[in-house]
Amino acid sequence: MDYKKYIAEKLNIEGLSAEETAAMLEVPPQSDMGDYALPCFRLAKTMRKAPPLIAKELAAKISADGVICEVSVAGGYLNFKIDRLHRAEDTVREVLEKGERYGSSDLGAGKTICIDYSSINIAKPFHIGHLSTTVIGGALYKILSFLGYKAVGINHLGDYGTQFGKLIVAYKRWGDKETIEKGKLRELMRIYVKFHEEAEKHPELEDEARHYFKLIEDGDKEANELFAWFKELTLKEVQKIYDRLKVTFDSYAGESFYNDKMQPVIDELKEKGLLKMSDGAAIVNLEEYGMPPCLILKKDGSSLYATRDMAAAIYRKKTYDFYKSLYVVAYQQDLHFKQFFKVLELMGKEWAKDLVHVSYGMVSMEDGAMSTRTGKVVFLEDVLDKCVEKAAAIIEEKNEKLENKAEVARQVGTGAVIFGALYNNKIKDIVFSYDKVLNFDGETCPYVQYTGARCNSVLKKGGEIGAFRAETLTDEEYALVALLDNFPNVVKEAAEKYEPSFVTRFAVDLAKAYNKFYIADKIIGSEENVKNFRLALTKAVHTVLKTAFALLGIEIPEQM
Ligand code: ARG
Repeated sequence: MDYKKYIAEKLNIEGLSAEETAAMLEVPPQSDMGDYALPCFRLAKTMRKAPPLIAKELAAKISADGVICEVSVAGGYLNFKIDRLHRAEDTVREVLEKGERYGSSDLGAGKTICIDYSSINIAKPFHIGHLSTTVIGGALYKILSFLGYKAVGINHLGDYGTQFGKLIVAYKRWGDKETIEKGKLRELMRIYVKFHEEAEKHPELEDEARHYFKLIEDGDKEANELFAWFKELTLKEVQKIYDRLKVTFDSYAGESFYNDKMQPVIDELKEKGLLKMSDGAAIVNLEEYGMPPCLILKKDGSSLYATRDMAAAIYRKKTYDFYKSLYVVAYQQDLHFKQFFKVLELMGKEWAKDLVHVSYGMVSMEDGAMSTRTGKVVFLEDVLDKCVEKAAAIIEEKNEKLENKAEVARQVGTGAVIFGALYNNKIKDIVFSYDKVLNFDGETCPYVQYTGARCNSVLKKGGEIGAFRAETLTDEEYALVALLDNFPNVVKEAAEKYEPSFVTRFAVDLAKAYNKFYIADKIIGSEENVKNFRLALTKAVHTVLKTAFALLGIEIPEQM
């Protein structure tokens, strides 16, 4: 039951719709204050009265019933307590009825949201630095779809630039087809690194690289075939990782896709008097907005990253008519997004306000950072493999007799990597540690997975769930009910703030509350009605844990 709506309808505040009132209701930090609270100071302006007085007057309007059991005033707050038994029965039934759809809605029906994420660079390694954009974007895709939005996942491939000229030179000199087919991205990287080493000694290699890049641009057959091959190799490799992380895309239109879509943008900038020449380059001056100029064309007339992004934004608006268009890109690019969003606004694109940079922090390994040029880089594939391997060793030690150990190790190891990137508020920098993400006792992925498996085993032992009524409730039971009831709100808030960590944290809280309940309250062996209710509650927790984790791309094993 939507208690916020129920309360809002009963309150029937003049001049506000039930939806508007419902949106104002908060969940107090401590449950002894009430289950919901209306902060009346937000009505003070329109009602022209002091908040405590408003609270008092509104309180007089409603009386307790079978759903609301207590209405009280505390300063400027009007507090509501929901009848616990009603809430317990109603919530558990709803979860069991809706199953894995519990928490979903049609909030976003008819609205399209583009999500630009992962957006890897061709022929460059898929490294630990790509983890966050890939899993944050992947989770947002699932969360928004769950809420009824039409999500469009876009991998804005970095498939344009002089580095492809360098790669062709490197391939011609130090590469061969067979070795590359076998070594794939690592081999491409090896020859790319070699190019940089050699170019230090022989700078003329750079000219050669520029020449080959020009050949790609001019449509030369051989150069383009090589380029297409590099691209195919890269995409095939990364696809394996996307499958492991359960991440999908609807479009792979990358930077080169916009080669022929930039001229109209440049013309429009000129027409609107926004394009200025500076040192031979074409720029848009953004001094007035406290930013350095946005570079549109280099001296030699070639386009820049921002030019392509502007063409891409316009293309996406035209193609998808988005309600919002998100860019899940690290904070190092904060300025880039601010700049080109501003330029689009100055061009009079009213939809520029719907472009959102979903900025996030860096991931580094415990032993330090990495750089592609020097070749010291941590491949995401290696991190996943190692985490699965370590998970397998832990399982071997803890539960040697477990069936499908390898499958469970895959679920635990992969989940731990994803969870590691989705646990903290996304803007925080993360230092990745195998020991931390695989700790079975902390606020971790295996802890939640273990709890899910525990629910599963209780349900197996308990057998069929007979008819139940909530007749009494322990505090542990009610804590679970309140969490379950709040899950739909958590999903909504995660979508509003583009913050999958809300879902991750929720899963941890729910797992903790379940384990508390499991220790405190006997399930099997209790009186029939109590047993049935506790089994139903267990099933509801199991369902919601699985849903929450599925939104993040993590599986919960049946047994652990
Ligand atoms: N390929 C870029 C990089 O590795 C990220 C692209 C992000 N998306 C965008 N539309 N600019 O830095």
